[in-house]
Amino acid sequence: MPGDAVQSRGGSRVITPEQFRERFPVLRDKVHLASCSQGALSVELSAALDRFERQMLEHPNPWAAWSEEVEKARRTFAALIGAHPAEVAVVSCASEGAFQVASGYDWQPGDAIVTSAVEFPSVAHVWLAQRARGVTVRHAVPSKDEWLVWVDDFAAVIEAGTRLVSVPLVAYQHGQRLPVRAVTELAHNRGARVIVDAYQGFGVEPLDVGDLDCDYLVSGALKYGLGLPGIAFLYVRPGLRSDLAPQLTGWFARKDPFSFDPFHLDYAADARRFQTGSPGVPAAYGAVAGFGLLAELDAGAVAAHVADLAELLHERLVAAGFAVVSAVDRERRGPQVAVAMPDPDGVAARLDQRGVSTSPRGRLLRLSLHYYNLDTDVLRVVEDLRSLRDAG
Ligand SMILES: Cc1ncc(COP(=O)(O)O)c(C=O)c1O
Repeated sequence: MPGDAVQSRGGSRVITPEQFRERFPVLRDKVHLASCSQGALSVELSAALDRFERQMLEHPNPWAAWSEEVEKARRTFAALIGAHPAEVAVVSCASEGAFQVASGYDWQPGDAIVTSAVEFPSVAHVWLAQRARGVTVRHAVPSKDEWLVWVDDFAAVIEAGTRLVSVPLVAYQHGQRLPVRAVTELAHNRGARVIVDAYQGFGVEPLDVGDLDCDYLVSGALKYGLGLPGIAFLYVRPGLRSDLAPQLTGWFARKDPFSFDPFHLDYAADARRFQTGSPGVPAAYGAVAGFGLLAELDAGAVAAHVADLAELLHERLVAAGFAVVSAVDRERRGPQVAVAMPDPDGVAARLDQRGVSTSPRGRLLRLSLHYYNLDTDVLRVVEDLRSLRDAG
């Protein structure tokens, strides 16, 4: 309830959506439904960028502080996905994380990677580029539905020879929550490893690598993570052995990055072996700010709030006659509701003029929800979409 600032749950204080929203001054006069692309600017993110600049003024060689910030980003990310920091590599983007995984395979004739129609292109392209190294790439495609991919669609293409299966936690096009646990079980039974691209869910979906039982997981810090582009994180299940050492490398992948030895190549024993050169330090400040905000929240409360908003948005859009393509049931509908329409870019531009941020992709207008969104945002966007449509 809006005036009820602090609830008490089992003795712990839970931050309400209304309280959380106050950390994002931009939301006083904007409706932000574009977290699937970029989260709203928080007070904490502004302060972190300020701190980055101040440190450079006060300490012209700030590497010690920078390294600590990168380590803090690694630790906080690890805690948010139920991993140990030693299981997390800091990379520059999700594609780099995917590449490091692919580069560890010494592909043999008959080897295959399974991806899907709901893979984000950047990661999908890394898999396709492996064809030049002799691998076959197979796609799980929707068979029962125009847009959604089910576990049977993966089962149809995970065959003998499949060594890696790539599955997103949530589809970037329409927010479908993928059956990751079922795909993982299937892939493991057929002898393949699994990488999860969690970018479209990290921050609003409860995440635990142990529960997912995945071998690798990648996500960046922007979008629902409330940080900036320029940094991403690759979880690697401890004890996994690869055919080859990561092919993209650099001093931050060494046992001792500060040994400065150009004659020998050793690899860190932990997930740092997947790292490369100097990390994206400004983005690490952003990640620490965003992840710090997320760490204050109750992940279950966030997921429930976002699911309630998505349900309301879905219902209101359908009632207003819009062509919603997202999953109908709450279990499969993630933090985003997408509508098929003739000119999503034009509609997004007109909504933007009215102070409503959305995210168009191809034939779809994506409306995404975070803990800072409220029912009023949902009602407002449906009303604006209706009035734009009626005005022709
Ligand atoms: C699911 C998903 N994965 C990855 C990315 C981005 O990949 P990268 O960090 O390589 O730009 C996005 C969006 O930008 C995405 O939605």
